[in-house]
Amino acid sequence: MNTPAPSAFPDAARTWNSRFSTEDFIFGTEPNAWLREHAGAWQRGQRVLCVADGEGRNSVWLAKQGLLVDAYDIAEVGVAKARQLAAAQGAQVDYTVADCDHFDYGEARYDGVAAIFVQFADPAMRERMFHHIRRCLKPGGVLILQGYTPRQLEYKTGGPPFASHLYTEDLLRAAFAGFDLLALREYEAELTEGSQHKGRSALIGLVARKR
Ligand SMILES: C[S@@+](CC[C@H](N)C(=O)[O-])C[C@H]1O[C@@H](n2cnc3c(N)ncnc32)[C@H](O)[C@@H]1O
Repeated sequence: MNTPAPSAFPDAARTWNSRFSTEDFIFGTEPNAWLREHAGAWQRGQRVLCVADGEGRNSVWLAKQGLLVDAYDIAEVGVAKARQLAAAQGAQVDYTVADCDHFDYGEARYDGVAAIFVQFADPAMRERMFHHIRRCLKPGGVLILQGYTPRQLEYKTGGPPFASHLYTEDLLRAAFAGFDLLALREYEAELTEGSQHKGRSALIGLVARKR
């Protein structure tokens, strides 16, 4: 039986700060593969937001591709490591320590949003976060999102152990109704993203353009 989902992770900052309090980059320093594959949707000089960016592997890589990158995360230890990674690689990213309900997303501010493994959010928090994402994109702006499907509960190779946090195609179609879906795919792959996302995984990827 699955563990019943809490309303949200209590004290997420403490939990994640403790997970990040190690010299290793627990999700690695290479960008997520779905993001790397689809980031050509954005052009050099465009402004992109990395939601809950953790230790910075995605924001740093995007900045090195010539994008203007803002990133936030609730865990100050993660953000400190992200700043170190950016400095070590000569990348410029505007980092903020913030939770997803309080970050200042603005309206029609971004050409792109990267939301990679942000399934800490329960359905209510997810709806608020997706609302911010829809709103902060400019018309024509593109969201690149990666998560796990409910099948991941069998694999147990990463992600939250709560079905209600996971994504299906129908869920993402409904959340981004009115966007043009450039890619929406459920698939399986071997992940090697640090120590935390490792092994056979049930994934879903979305690339969606705001009209
Ligand atoms: C699975 S990690 C993914 C990190 C990063 N996106 C990546 O792909 O490497 C989830 C991230 O969400 C952050 N997080 C958890 N709850 C949050 C919240 N309420 N607001 C903002 N960030 C949160 C954690 O600190 C952690 O960095």
